[in-house]
Amino acid sequence: MKSIVVKDLAKRYSNGTEAVKGISFELEKGEIFGMVGPNGAGKTTTIKMITTLTTITSGDAFVSGIDVKKHPEKVRRIIGMVPQDLSVDDDLHGFENLVLSGKLYGMDTKLAVKKANMLLDFFDLTEFKDKDVGSYSGGMKKRLDLASGLMHEPEVLFLDEPTLGLDTQTRSKIWDYVKRLNKELNMTILVTTHYLEEADMLCNRIAIVDFGKIVALDKPSALKEGIGNSVMMVKVKNDLEKTKKLIENIDGVGEITMYKEDLKVTLKRMEVAPAILETMYSNKITLERLSIKEPSLDDVFIHYTGAALRDREEKTDSMAMRRTMRRMRQ
Ligand SMILES: Nc1ncnc2c1ncn2[C@@H]1O[C@H](COP(=O)(O)OP(=O)(O)O)[C@@H](O)[C@H]1O
Ligand SMILES: [Mg+2]
Repeated sequence: MKSIVVKDLAKRYSNGTEAVKGISFELEKGEIFGMVGPNGAGKTTTIKMITTLTTITSGDAFVSGIDVKKHPEKVRRIIGMVPQDLSVDDDLHGFENLVLSGKLYGMDTKLAVKKANMLLDFFDLTEFKDKDVGSYSGGMKKRLDLASGLMHEPEVLFLDEPTLGLDTQTRSKIWDYVKRLNKELNMTILVTTHYLEEADMLCNRIAIVDFGKIVALDKPSALKEGIGNSVMMVKVKNDLEKTKKLIENIDGVGEITMYKEDLKVTLKRMEVAPAILETMYSNKITLERLSIKEPSLDDVFIHYTGAALRDREEKTDSMAMRRTMRRMRQ
């Protein structure tokens, strides 16, 4: 049985915002599935609908075959949800936090204590179990948060931006735990992240979400292969248009687009690279900068959304800022 089935899922908030506009995907048991996309794309809303935290406007969602709309309480029992913002209580000890969360799930004290100790051990927090969570580092709090979402042994785990705002080292540590959960317990994990390179390394499949829709969904390798084999970035001193025309006519060259000051040339085969250089040389075009790389998920993102994730974020941030300023002036 599929772990998650989502069909034409859509969300319209009461203020009219269409946050999710018909999303469909299916997750096999034991998969790590990533949703990537800029701020406001609808990732959190999608997770909230599947985890019963917000109503489904239209479409359907099933977790381990259970209909989310018909049996929300049954779904809640078999899922773990770790929201973007920390949910642990700063005034309690780490151990107390976990026992409390177990009890909220209806576990008896003995079982909750046993499970809490196991999870503290798993997340390397045993040493700190009797300390106030307020004294924990950001990474420790996140680990405790993960532990808290696992107290009732969920079949499917939802992680919303589990590494946002953490430093690189802590991020990779969090991912190590996530990978272990997946491997050792065959846990299905749906994770959202801003970090494309993380998604690339850790997810079996990735959905790129933009404006409430999935614009691409596949294995990271297939997504990258799908947009061409390699990418050559070329900056020339002059004659950009002429260079573009010359390169365009070479056999084995795919799409050519501008990226900032560079020509971004898709190579269908790596062997075409020398021919490009020869053509430029024989036409006396002065090269300023050149690089060749295998496509990254960033390239995939640009290909499907027309802009880099970072640029899109800045744009949405500045749009939101302008809206706020306009409101303040009114
Ligand atoms: N409770 C809400 N009420 C109204 N609009 C919302 C609410 N929550 C989110 N939105 C809007 O829905 C869109 C999608 O948001 P969200 O799902 O949080 O995206 P993401 O997680 O990809 O950043 C955004 O435009 C956001 O402003
Ligand atoms: Mg979000």
